[in-house]
Amino acid sequence: MSKQFDVVVIGGGPGGYIAAIRAAQLGMNVACIDEWKNDKGGPAPGGTCTNVGCIPSKALLQSSEHFEQANHHFADHGITVKDVKIDVAKMIARKDTVVKQNNDGILYLFKKNKVTFFHGRGSFVKAAEGGYELQVSGAADETLVAKQVVVATGSNARALAGAPFDEQNILSNDGALRLGAVPKRLGLIGSGVIGLEMGSVWRRLGSEVTVLEGLPTFLGAVDEQIAKEAKKAFDKQGLNIQLGVKVGDITHSKKGVSVAYTNAKGEAQTLEVDKLIISIGRVPNTHGLNVEAVGLQLDERGAIVVDDDCRTNLPGVWAVGDVVRGPMLAHKAEEEGVAVAERMAGQHGHVNFNTIPWVIYTSPEIAWVGQTEQQLKASGRAYKAGTFPFLANGRARALGDTTGMVKFLADAATDEILGVHIVGPMASELIAEAVVAMEFKASSEDIARICHAHPSLSEATKEAALAVDKRTLNF
Ligand code: FAD
Ligand code: NAI
Repeated sequence: MSKQFDVVVIGGGPGGYIAAIRAAQLGMNVACIDEWKNDKGGPAPGGTCTNVGCIPSKALLQSSEHFEQANHHFADHGITVKDVKIDVAKMIARKDTVVKQNNDGILYLFKKNKVTFFHGRGSFVKAAEGGYELQVSGAADETLVAKQVVVATGSNARALAGAPFDEQNILSNDGALRLGAVPKRLGLIGSGVIGLEMGSVWRRLGSEVTVLEGLPTFLGAVDEQIAKEAKKAFDKQGLNIQLGVKVGDITHSKKGVSVAYTNAKGEAQTLEVDKLIISIGRVPNTHGLNVEAVGLQLDERGAIVVDDDCRTNLPGVWAVGDVVRGPMLAHKAEEEGVAVAERMAGQHGHVNFNTIPWVIYTSPEIAWVGQTEQQLKASGRAYKAGTFPFLANGRARALGDTTGMVKFLADAATDEILGVHIVGPMASELIAEAVVAMEFKASSEDIARICHAHPSLSEATKEAALAVDKRTLNF
């Protein structure tokens, strides 16, 4: 006997579980299917983000930052600590507890919002009268019929040809987040977001870290001035980032992993490490969905083809998050999930792709929204720029963290804010003001005229806005 729903969401990551909750809030009868298992085989909704992504990486970044502070910065405050040690097992157990709190939180939210949860793999069976028949394969097999389907099956780490992940020596983000000990020598391939965040965690804990990046420029998508400032800080910390390399054969034995590569000068090199993390991007995940049964269209990368509103080629089938085009970010997936639920309810869901913030949670943090200076130059748009260094900010001095700056880019004629770029302390929190400002089409003068609390890091944002008009007060 099949179970009938208005909406079935396949995938319980930030795209899927949020779509399910919003659809239920709007009065639809909703089910969500997710296959992620915890170490006891039980359900662990929340997807990549909760289990092996955003949440566990931030937990380890926090633990390792405490360790770094105790080792290198407490002394500046007159605090003496002796014999600082890291208990990796305890740090990982704490991270697992944080993950479980989030898994349990989502199960609670499903109950609260009357979303029916199925633990197992969801797949298409066929188009059915007034919708689609779906199969759930898990502890108990179920057949569901849904009027509308939202696919939110996320993404997986991209492997390097000839070096499959074994999660022992060659690690994806999954293995990188549950190492049992601090590797003496750690290699990373790819100096993108994961490479920098994971490299930072294990460097702070004592690993000698080498990052091999294929591109000749560091963080090519980031505003050049900001990327340069960040690179300076990472170099100073001892992250060995080599740009413009060409990775060759990767072999591993009991002794560790050996990576043959050519450096930017064209010289043949070998990197010997105890563990290797491969972080070269992610691929959309449609494995096991049986898309062929209904003719759901994929592009050449394997992503589900959608229009701006997340509609697929099939009536009543939507797709959101990492499995479709656009940045692979949890908050982008969530926004799409909400918008799709509202569209299914006949409302006008909306996602502004121009104001999706990016954050890299390294130290210093890097955050931005809108266009970079390179993009503005390339498009020929006349702009004004203003920057303000944290070195001149009272709160940053009190914190002992004065690296970096806030940078504003505004239209030369109208002064509308076109981009805000931050490298420095709490950039992840500071960027929210810029996102709000851009959503409201604010000018840099609007920010410059708003009262900001003193002393606060946000004063650097106000001062950078003042700098657009060349009238900083504290620099
Ligand atoms: P996912 O979170 O991948 O969820 C998909 C879910 O669907 C999974 O639970 C999967 O098991 C399930 N599933 C797949 N196929 C089926 C099926 N057939 N049946 C049933 N279930 C299925 N983004 C940020 O914004 N901020 C960060 O700080 C951040 N940090 C990250 C750190 C790391 C190490 C990684 C790897 C990623 C990070 N991301 C971050 C990216 C973020 O995790 C993703 O963008 C986000 O999880 C995408 O959400 P999603 O719902 O599309 O997919
Ligand atoms: P990424 O796209 O950020 O970086 C991959 C890097 O690997 C690039 O610099 C690329 O040039 C390089 N690369 C690709 N192939 C290579 C090769 N063969 N040899 C050497 N270098 C190579 O991807 P990453 O770090 O794997 O992260 C995946 C995604 O997960 C991110 O793009 C982001 O969407 C998401 N994420 C977001 C986080 C956040 O918001 N703070 C944190 C971590 C991940």
